Amino acid sequence: GDLGVVAVGFSGGQPKAGVDAGPAALIDSGLLSEISNELGYRIHGDQQVKLYKELVPASDPDYRGMKNPRTVSAVNKQLASQVYEHASQGRLVLTLGGDHSIAIGTLAGSAKAIRERLNRDIAVIWVDAHSDINTPETSDSGNIHGMPVAFATGLAKDDNEEYFGWIKDDMRMSVKKLVYIGLRDVDSGEKKILRDNGIKAFSMFDVDRHGIGRVMEMALAHIGTDTPIHLSFDVDALDPMWAPSTGTPVRGGLTLREGDYICESVHQTGQLVAIDLVEVNPSLAATEAGAQETVRAGCSLVRCALGDTLL
Ligand code: ARG
Ligand code: MN
Ligand code: MN
Ligand code: MN
Repeated sequence: GDLGVVAVGFSGGQPKAGVDAGPAALIDSGLLSEISNELGYRIHGDQQVKLYKELVPASDPDYRGMKNPRTVSAVNKQLASQVYEHASQGRLVLTLGGDHSIAIGTLAGSAKAIRERLNRDIAVIWVDAHSDINTPETSDSGNIHGMPVAFATGLAKDDNEEYFGWIKDDMRMSVKKLVYIGLRDVDSGEKKILRDNGIKAFSMFDVDRHGIGRVMEMALAHIGTDTPIHLSFDVDALDPMWAPSTGTPVRGGLTLREGDYICESVHQTGQLVAIDLVEVNPSLAATEAGAQETVRAGCSLVRCALGDTLL
């Protein structure tokens, strides 16, 4: 098949330096060559990481409590059109982040392209320790990587073009087609949003109770067969034992096998249209080995989503 690669060296959705080096670390470890040589994809798009420096405005004051709002908005607007281009041509889109704010752009791009090309609404499987569904008003941190789902679904909106006002209705996804897996650090304002909107979520409690196999059956049943799937995978969904090198690690997470299993079963549906792999920050591990482990885990997840099998 054809794969559109978007490598987003961007860290403006959160305060820690280094996550902008995530895509280069994944690519340098051989991810793209494995994908083309071993999995047989034709790769289009970024072989080099984009840093989007030219999009950073001279001044970017807080707005509705959001930090770096114009920068994050401008980068995501550009990213949405890149993802849209690939998806419009029928390519599976792989976006390597970068912090999770970049899902504002990837979801906007794939929602619009799939609507036009297949006349279908995308479903989103969001694998994360966090629900990233704060609105600017519910967020305690002001970090936009905690808000992408709110902007993608229209729970958060702004009329001003410079502050995500470029996100139009045809770029949005429905909260009904959203499923979370791996949650364990959800802010109280976010819990209320999840409840009020009846959003489907499988926390680590559910993974422990049912096992990952049953959780995936239930998650896929919720979104329905014959629905194009956008998989947005935050590496912090994995336990820090497997992925220590990330900005907001939370103990008690998925094993690497559970993460791989999620990706394998999404691949098996044959409905995958886009994958994001985000929040790999090679500079945060206590040891160089920890950074390497995190990069290896990220590569493993992506390979599984692209159809690599154990046998
Ligand atoms: N809920 C917290 C916040 O809104 C943490 C978000 C972490 N998000 C992430 N993509 N790692 O600031
Ligand atoms: Mn997270
Ligand atoms: Mn928290
Ligand atoms: Mn996240």
